[in-house]
Amino acid sequence: MERIAIAQPSWDNEMRDAALATLDSLRWVKGEQGHLFGKEFAQMCGAVNATPCQSGSVALWAALRLLGIGPGDEVIVPSLTYIATTTCVSLVGATPIFVDVEPDFWCIDLEQVKKVYNEHTKAVIGVHLFGQMYDPELIEWCKTQGVALIEDAAQAHGASLVVDGVQRGAGACGDIGIFSFFPSKNMAVGGEGGMLTTTLESISNRMQAFVNHGRDVTLESFEVGSNLRMSEVSAAIGRIQLKRLERWVERRCEIAGRYSASLCNVRGFSIPAVRKHSNHAWHQYCVLAEQPLQLKQHLDHNGIDARIYYSTPCHRQKVFEGHPQYESSLKWTDELGPKLVAIPVHHQLRDEEVEYIIEKIIEFSTMVD
Ligand SMILES: Cc1ncc(COP(=O)(O)O)c(C=O)c1O
Repeated sequence: MERIAIAQPSWDNEMRDAALATLDSLRWVKGEQGHLFGKEFAQMCGAVNATPCQSGSVALWAALRLLGIGPGDEVIVPSLTYIATTTCVSLVGATPIFVDVEPDFWCIDLEQVKKVYNEHTKAVIGVHLFGQMYDPELIEWCKTQGVALIEDAAQAHGASLVVDGVQRGAGACGDIGIFSFFPSKNMAVGGEGGMLTTTLESISNRMQAFVNHGRDVTLESFEVGSNLRMSEVSAAIGRIQLKRLERWVERRCEIAGRYSASLCNVRGFSIPAVRKHSNHAWHQYCVLAEQPLQLKQHLDHNGIDARIYYSTPCHRQKVFEGHPQYESSLKWTDELGPKLVAIPVHHQLRDEEVEYIIEKIIEFSTMVD
């Protein structure tokens, strides 16, 4: 059996044809593909509007700028996440305030958010970690407090959550949402890429302009923005990938279900929990392992890629050396991060590969005592 990768982007003839046709058209930037990709993506998640851009990281930076966040402001972030969720706050000159995650679902813990909230708090960045939707009560709480909610959905294309009895897609569960199309994500664009979404009419036009130097139709800039535009080729590929997303996420769910059914009683592991009234997008399937390094090594020896997320929490990374929380501990973030082992769950896995992965995990559990 060939080595099983932790992630694998899809590439087919329809995507190749779309990419080539776009190149042949010589309309490489600022064209219909980007416009339609934004429209179709907004429709998929139920947002008011969406704007393609160059990466999830710049989308986070743009979201903070659009909300007017800067020096003197505090932004509450989880520490168990990819570094970009937190460094974007420093990029606008504001201060990230790191909080712990929930012990069961691993997303930002609302009770911890409430504890650090003060008059300087301007926003919370919630992350749908590994494709798990955050607590719907966070949405309500932010609204009540008048604090902006930035939804980091970089790992959650196709996830959804019931909020007040209404099903809402990832990307429509905050004021501004962001996605990443890095090749390992649930959908990709043939290179780097990101998406900004919003549920606010008041942000919609500014968001579209921000990625284009804050220019309006008269080509005059009305606010500071930059060139964050996605290329037309990427948008053309993304539009085809978007058509496949629902089916791909279904396949991820099927594989996750198979893992959970087979591994729920295996010694030395816990399987991931799924929040009630939500659909997980299974960007990652992480088991909580008592011996994570040994498990990773065992899988590696058997030709299976595995990753540990996130063994060094953001607030302890060198980039935050001067931050007052650099040496402080966050109970669940510290406890979980080094033990969450991601195993392959991408939509292209074949059934026999899934069974082989299960077999090797069970084999590992019998080897350790
Ligand atoms: C949670 C999270 N936020 C933000 C990003 C940044 O996205 P990008 O790599 O497209 O800049 C990622 C990407 O891995 C991510 O996982």
